[in-house]
Amino acid sequence: MADDNAVVDGSAVRVDAGGWGLTWAADDAGCLRQVGLGPEGATAQLGEIPLALFPDAYPTYGGGDALRPPALRITHADGSLTTRLVVEHVSRMVEPGGEHVTMRCRDERFHLHVEHHLRTHPASGVLEQWVEILHEEPGPVRLMSYDSMSPLLLASPDAEVVQFVGGGWADEWRWNEEGLSPGTKSLASFGGVQPHLQAAPMLLLSPSGPGSERSGDSLGCSIQWGGNTRFDLDVRPKGDLAAPSELRLRCGANPLGAEYLLDPGVRFVAPAVAWTWATTGRAEVTRRFHIWTRERVLRDPNRVRPVVANNWEATFFDFDEARILDLIDQSGELGAEVFLLDDGWFGTNHPRDDDTAGLGDWDVDRAKLPNGLAPLADAAAARGLRFGIWVEPEMVNPLSELYVDHPDWVVRDSREPAEHRNQLVLDPLIDEVREFEASVVDRALCDPGISYVKWDANRPITDPGSTQLGPDRQANLWVDQVHATWAVMDEVVRRHPEVELMLCASGGGRTDHATLRRFHEFWTSDNTDPVTRVRMQWACSHFFPAAAMAAHVTRWGGRPIHFGCAVALSGRFGLDLDLLALSSDEWAACRSAVALAKRTQRLVQQGRLVRLVSPMDRADRSRAALACIDPGSDETVLFAYQLEASNRPSPSLMLDWLDPDATYTVTETDLAVAGGAAVTQRSGRELIDGLDWQLTEPETARVWEITPVRG
Ligand code: DGJ
Repeated sequence: MADDNAVVDGSAVRVDAGGWGLTWAADDAGCLRQVGLGPEGATAQLGEIPLALFPDAYPTYGGGDALRPPALRITHADGSLTTRLVVEHVSRMVEPGGEHVTMRCRDERFHLHVEHHLRTHPASGVLEQWVEILHEEPGPVRLMSYDSMSPLLLASPDAEVVQFVGGGWADEWRWNEEGLSPGTKSLASFGGVQPHLQAAPMLLLSPSGPGSERSGDSLGCSIQWGGNTRFDLDVRPKGDLAAPSELRLRCGANPLGAEYLLDPGVRFVAPAVAWTWATTGRAEVTRRFHIWTRERVLRDPNRVRPVVANNWEATFFDFDEARILDLIDQSGELGAEVFLLDDGWFGTNHPRDDDTAGLGDWDVDRAKLPNGLAPLADAAAARGLRFGIWVEPEMVNPLSELYVDHPDWVVRDSREPAEHRNQLVLDPLIDEVREFEASVVDRALCDPGISYVKWDANRPITDPGSTQLGPDRQANLWVDQVHATWAVMDEVVRRHPEVELMLCASGGGRTDHATLRRFHEFWTSDNTDPVTRVRMQWACSHFFPAAAMAAHVTRWGGRPIHFGCAVALSGRFGLDLDLLALSSDEWAACRSAVALAKRTQRLVQQGRLVRLVSPMDRADRSRAALACIDPGSDETVLFAYQLEASNRPSPSLMLDWLDPDATYTVTETDLAVAGGAAVTQRSGRELIDGLDWQLTEPETARVWEITPVRG
């Protein structure tokens, strides 16, 4: 039901996001002002202060805020550089589980509209916010920058931001905790196809002081965009050094090199930013993001993800039918639930024996697999496993039949495109390419019994350009290719609704809440060194539930297999090991881990996460502990990891969600020890007061399963 009203009269527009919110109002000139933001933001009073003295809700180039960077910069059809918006109309639409508020502004002079969209989800406290732009100017306008939102808040001198800019491949989710300083700090990603390898499109902000897990103001923001993203933190000091600074957080798609030429009558939709403001620390930000991700993002959120055995780290490209059958045998023996055949299974005339050839030729390489995929899928089924397959539909090796037939299908400009991992990016703006990409998945799934797909993308865009775009709008590629790729993914979902999809782009190159809407999970990183993984998964867990975060045991880092198993068990558990090369102790650890996974993955994937001991703690990064709980039953699984040597005692784990009057069965597992589970009964009071865990050796772990004794 829509409720329309005009707000050119200065009345307030209040958005209650669930525990926090914002108030906007138009000043006398019609300019949209931010009157309130934060825990009491939705009830801020307009009072005596003239509205014109409040900050611009969305500063434009040439608008009222001449001294700070704008959120929107447009070159109009007549060449004018300035945009001045006035509020024209507000509509509120009740939706299932929330509300959609639209605030339409128009330029004072040009026939151009900017709409602010705010979609609430009070059950989680996550607000989605974005802008849409459309115009009827006499010719196209050029969008030079187009932030999705630009809230202004006060940041104390010891405010803190956590951002996740890393070094690229195998270095995702680096936890960077830092203060704010005057000026503009940009946190941006590039490359279009796998931008999140360099910078996850998420941010944590503690405006009132150092961030904490369980107390203080904490904001979480996630830009829902499968392309390049940017957070700009504009900090302007106010008053003396001890006074709070003004912080404007502008964020959305990264417009660098992506100035968008927008035709009259066409609607430009900027990415939605999902964000929340908690007053009880990062734990609450996480709780909200997990609820929202489950309810609004993840496919089949209630389906417990299976235990996946992958062959990539075991074989790379070097396998044949017998080798894969052996691995399937062993995976079945261990109790895995899906066998995933990774890269290297295709390419007849250009066999995919390494990454130099074959991409694009999606016929089974009969030299490796003379009988095709069916016997593998059958063998898997016979051992109680589903079968999965790897594809990289968006790419082509020049050494392929596809490229010989369609050299004009690639993303490029007028110079020869650079190769990266010996491959080029197919141009999804070409209709036949989109159909080809969707058909790659159809072909991979043509044998019955294949019900899981890993969708990979292993290079960035380096030579943006498309034959489908005129010379004046080549830069539109950065935006259009994201939508075109999503269209292909949507089509795949439509054609294969039952198939489980893992999202991968050279590891975690596509970990955003928008692309994830088409998938069940993502490959968190190719870096599976368990010590690094504890820290990566810790960072990632602030925004994503473990159900989305694939975590496999490998030999990366040369750590003990039992330790790798314990780490992978706190994500969506799987194995990527040469199972035939395991020692008997390693085999026993893997076997126990799979059994443990079957008992605990429901809780890990769907329970409530409680982070207890941070591996990012400035004073001591040597250990970590976290729990997954079912608040309804108190069932708990608790993980503790000793990552590095430390001479500090481990802090007791206070399990304060338990019932002090109940009795619990506590099963403690050390995967390093065969049959290493010790079962005791403890009172809730005892566990609330603290569970001691003195792990002195690095690369050791414990897992506790805690269940209430009934009766
Ligand atoms: C990159 C992925 O992250 C790996 O897991 C693997 O699938 C390779 N690509 C295959 O080429």
